[in-house]
Amino acid sequence: MAEQTKGAILVTGGAGYIGSHAVLALSDAGYRPVVLDNLSTGRRFLVPDDVPFIEADAGGPETVAKIIADHGIEAVLHFAGSVVVPESVSDPLNYYRNNTCTSRNLIEACVANGVRRMIFSSTAAVYGIAERTRVDEDTPLAPINPYGRSKLMTEWMLRDTAAATDLRHVALRYFNVAGGDPEGRTGQATPNATHLIKIACECAVGQRRHMEIFGDDYDTPDGTGVRDYIHVTDLVEAHVAALEYLAGGGDSVTLNCGYGHGYSVREVVAAVERQSATTLDVRIGPRRPGDASALIADAGRIGSVLGWRPRLADLDLIVKTALAWEKSLRSRA
Ligand code: UD1
Repeated sequence: MAEQTKGAILVTGGAGYIGSHAVLALSDAGYRPVVLDNLSTGRRFLVPDDVPFIEADAGGPETVAKIIADHGIEAVLHFAGSVVVPESVSDPLNYYRNNTCTSRNLIEACVANGVRRMIFSSTAAVYGIAERTRVDEDTPLAPINPYGRSKLMTEWMLRDTAAATDLRHVALRYFNVAGGDPEGRTGQATPNATHLIKIACECAVGQRRHMEIFGDDYDTPDGTGVRDYIHVTDLVEAHVAALEYLAGGGDSVTLNCGYGHGYSVREVVAAVERQSATTLDVRIGPRRPGDASALIADAGRIGSVLGWRPRLADLDLIVKTALAWEKSLRSRA
């Protein structure tokens, strides 16, 4: 771990899957992360013992003001939120509260208490079912579910706030985040996760009996959905690069965060079988409502703006680290 010489960074949702990786990346880069998480889906054990941890909601202005003052917070990485698309359809107001309202309050608390930099976790879901498979940041925004809309509304709030105040931000539109810390320090531990790689790994370690492919009649090379899977460690390193970009005076910007390369569901299943040396019980089911056939990032802008270069862009490596984590979770249970 690097010597801690850089500033204090508030990580909302730092006990969650991506947030806990960000905490490690910040510490490794010499920052002092401070975690704020209400543990609604986060897990306390994912946060290292030497990192300050506050169990509270990121939308509480007084709590946030106190943390900023107590720790001398310079910037915020805002991960806290709800991420399950079907849940957002059945309970939209919960998503507008947890994602949109919480972000509004957090942004306001930052402005009121002198924090001038925020990195926001947005999503490729803001594009909806895009006309093109490969989407750049100027692709028309047409989210098709409350989850995507709740995130897009936060992008808008940040943009309007950047125009009116000195709070600058980087909004990162994540594609399909997967994998675990290569050193095994953290990983995806959210109960009832819906992500493909997590589900396939749960099958491989015997946590689930079988899995389903949601549709094999898409207009893709093997008929199954294609997505741009990005290793969580590369993703959180993009956050550190974004922090440094803003510290260097960079303007507010919105960037895709993916590799620009897609894999089908069948290719993912094959990688899990390869890495686990098992054969998964895979059944073909109907299409899942709201799924695009293929969605891949045009990842040109993030490279040129942040100078970010992925280090772990390899499906087998993503799967290998996800599997290792799944096994360690099993032995913990
Ligand atoms: C979506 C969101 C993403 C969000 C994520 C969290 C979009 C464009 N993306 O990703 O922003 O963070 O949900 O929920 O809305 N699949 C199966 N069987 C399974 C699970 C998945 O076949 O058991 C298939 C899906 O049909 C899809 C691919 O695997 O083709 C990836 O699905 P998933 O991991 O759920 O992520 P997205 O829906 O792409």
